Amino acid sequence: MNLTTAANDNGVDLSLVVHNRRMLTADIVALDLQANDAELLPPWAPGAHVEMNLDNGLSRQYSLCGDPADRQRWTVAVLREPSSRGGSDYIHDEMPAGAKVQCRGPRNNFPLEPASAYKFVAGGIGITPMLPMIGAAEASGTPWTLLYGGRSLDSMAFKDDLARYGDKVRIHPQDTLGLLDLATELADPSPGTAIYCCGPEPLLAAIENHCASTWPAGALHVERFRADLPDLTDARQIEIELAQSGMTLTVPADKSILEVLTEAGVEVDASCEEGTCGTCEVMVLEGTPEHHDVVLTESERESGECMMICVSRAKSKCLKLDL
Ligand code: FES
Repeated sequence: MNLTTAANDNGVDLSLVVHNRRMLTADIVALDLQANDAELLPPWAPGAHVEMNLDNGLSRQYSLCGDPADRQRWTVAVLREPSSRGGSDYIHDEMPAGAKVQCRGPRNNFPLEPASAYKFVAGGIGITPMLPMIGAAEASGTPWTLLYGGRSLDSMAFKDDLARYGDKVRIHPQDTLGLLDLATELADPSPGTAIYCCGPEPLLAAIENHCASTWPAGALHVERFRADLPDLTDARQIEIELAQSGMTLTVPADKSILEVLTEAGVEVDASCEEGTCGTCEVMVLEGTPEHHDVVLTESERESGECMMICVSRAKSKCLKLDL
């Protein structure tokens, strides 16, 4: 089997099989994905995710949480979302061992940058990207700690695996210990220390709020799975000019740039269409984008050099895109 059917910055298209599945908690299932013929999978680094294109037509992104050195399998852990729109329910209910799944990846919007020390903060299923990051920190001898919060001990996956790290890991179930005390945990900004956080939006907002006033710019790295989709009630019509084809298109207030491009027959990669995966990233050659994604860092947003065209719009009347 030829694993690679198409390759670009978003990774490669792969036809994989659920080799093994196991329930980690009542609501979290882990899947080991392999190629049918045990061919090696593409390399990846901590923080990477894979996109799963489900047979029900939905696409979902999940952090890779296994060992990057294991090229035979990718492991993802999937929380059954209480308000599932059909993605996590499908994976829990319709994908037994042996099921085939089309995947694309890996892609990394949350890379582990070199630092003199790491503070990892995870909430719930946000523990998944932290596991390979911890492995990398451990392997490089970089000091690290993990603060891992969850609703209750029973709901928290991987806590037994983490026990081997001793007091570097603190498990913090909310039902017995309350909310994470970020003010105390992050009281001492140390130069060179990087904070990596993944979890539910209230945790991310709280840690951003805390770090904005106390930690150096760039120390905090977060990964979100939900974008703040633009409120289109006040949106304006914009023009886009495509540098490669010379086309000029009008994007009405009620459509995304991606929709207009697709309708015009311009081929653009896209997946989540909600600003979370980074697949639709396009270079901006002129004009000022108005970012609504959760992929770009603050400095990338400020540079205005690229944008996610599924949700982002424009502050300027016109954008010239490298398409
Ligand atoms: Fe996922 Fe645009 S398609 S960010």
